[in-house]
Amino acid sequence: MTNIIEQIRDEHRNMAKLLDALERQIAVFSEGGQPDYEVILGALDYFLDYPDRCHHPKEDLLARKIIEGTDTAGPLQKLEAQHEELGILTRRFAELVRRVLDEAELSRSDLTRAATEFIATQRHHMEMEEEHFLPLAETALGPEELAELASELTAEADPLMDPDAEARYSNLRDTILSWEAEAHG
Ligand SMILES: [Fe+2]
Ligand SMILES: [Fe+2]
Repeated sequence: MTNIIEQIRDEHRNMAKLLDALERQIAVFSEGGQPDYEVILGALDYFLDYPDRCHHPKEDLLARKIIEGTDTAGPLQKLEAQHEELGILTRRFAELVRRVLDEAELSRSDLTRAATEFIATQRHHMEMEEEHFLPLAETALGPEELAELASELTAEADPLMDPDAEARYSNLRDTILSWEAEAHG
């Protein structure tokens, strides 16, 4: 089984691609165009579900393991608080998208602002983890502790990039893969 830290990094890469995809569609929307709502809704569907169910628990577990027997609890407890805030922000943004689709009164700039905040907060949180939290975990925990953590975790794969996983993400996955092919072709 892949090391838990590598799994978290892989999931960050996937989430970063999803945020890029969302950003492209929001740019279309803010310029008055018709975005691909399937991509927007797919991204939201993912962010409403997978991080709280599978990604954040891995990080919270890792954080608690680092805290054990140390006095570094403060900054690491902030991580759990940020995960809760991300959940709230995601649900708020999802609600605004739903209102747009229901053709409720909502200006393009309101939705664009909420989307920009959502994307920036997600990216900022991941950057903090990549630059501070994961390197700290690598220094603090040895292979035995990491293996112990891996055994406590769900083996559920990230549905975004696993070709055998949930069909509801298949369109989104295809869109992202085709953009990647374009970018590298
Ligand atoms: Fe996190
Ligand atoms: Fe993360």
